[in-house]
Amino acid sequence: MGENIILIGFMGSGKTSSAKKLAVHLGWEAVEMDELILKRSGKADINEIFEESGELGFRLLEMEVAKDLCNSNKKVISTGGGIIMNQINMMYLKECGRVFYLKDNFDLIMQRLSKDKTRPLLKDRKKAQALFDLRCPLYEHYADDIIDGEDVEPKIIAEQIYKIVK
Ligand code: S3P
Repeated sequence: MGENIILIGFMGSGKTSSAKKLAVHLGWEAVEMDELILKRSGKADINEIFEESGELGFRLLEMEVAKDLCNSNKKVISTGGGIIMNQINMMYLKECGRVFYLKDNFDLIMQRLSKDKTRPLLKDRKKAQALFDLRCPLYEHYADDIIDGEDVEPKIIAEQIYKIVK
């Protein structure tokens, strides 16, 4: 089994930025699942995948990428916020490393992403709130460690995780 770190959490909780900074501390590679999904799909952005193949098409690609990542070693993997909705994804990812949940606050996230147009599931605030409420217990369930990311810079999040794993 490889040695990897997996970051989970809701959209906008700082997974990608924290992963990049943590990877620098560790001398590992940072990989972003959404980027790998885009590469695999040949599409330019996530909205395009949702428009052409629906959320289901996106989730199938996400599962293929999660499976491929099983063979990783020394990677900091930032996942998409919906990764925990499929237990097969989490089976693959938990097999390959330690899972950190970046716990954040819904209102802060929505404030932070108020101008974001890249996330199809954030277009409707009420639906986004319902997703958040549904997912929070699942993030906690799959986490090996929970990091308080509420109003905390990715640099600090990365340092906290580094202290835990070094
Ligand atoms: C999603 C989160 C996004 C992306 C897609 C679906 C979700 O990733 O995978 O838009 O279901 O929460 P981020 O968490 O990096 O925004």
